[in-house]
Amino acid sequence: MKSNSKGLILWLTGFSGSGKTTIAKGLERELKERGCLVELLDGDVVRTNLSKGLGYSREDRETNIRRIGFVANLLSRNDVVAIVAAISPYRTSRDEVRRTTENFIEVYVNSPLEVCEERDVKGLYAMARAGEIRAFTGIDAPYEEPLNPDIVCYTSEETVKESIAKVAAELQRLEYIPVKPQLEYFI
Ligand code: ADX
Repeated sequence: MKSNSKGLILWLTGFSGSGKTTIAKGLERELKERGCLVELLDGDVVRTNLSKGLGYSREDRETNIRRIGFVANLLSRNDVVAIVAAISPYRTSRDEVRRTTENFIEVYVNSPLEVCEERDVKGLYAMARAGEIRAFTGIDAPYEEPLNPDIVCYTSEETVKESIAKVAAELQRLEYIPVKPQLEYFI
């Protein structure tokens, strides 16, 4: 199957509950509508198979990111847009993937920790505060912000639709993906 896109890794990083998965899924749909080949690698899903058994120590997270990066790289060099949604809290890990890939776009899904904690979609922040789970990102494990992200989505200020449109517009501007086809009706 021929892809309408140039392959790339679109790497979404940010706190748990920042909106990475939601934006990633929306982008997956948006890009498919434009005829691109797309694959989504979501941290929560990857941890049930490829990274099953890994925990949340620095070492395990680095291994997780390296594995995701490896697969995303294979996909991206075959014209697939590999969308990654993983906390990926360590700058060195993200930069390592960037260095080993030809086309890498870092999207910082930026939402203040207080907002993510307030949302607490999975109830994990409450558990982390109660000491029931350890090494939780933002609570008792670090998150190193991207210093030079290609795109920033401020998910506490923008709607999901706006964040998706912002990323798609930038990919279009960089000529990774084609313009969205307009439906035309001829009578
Ligand atoms: S990463 O740090 O290795 O990139 P990844 O994105 O794969 O993390 O997985 C994060 C998900 O695992 C969170 O969204 C959450 O559902 C779950 N999780 C469980 N324990 C932790 C923890 N200690 N820190 C962060 N996330 C955790």
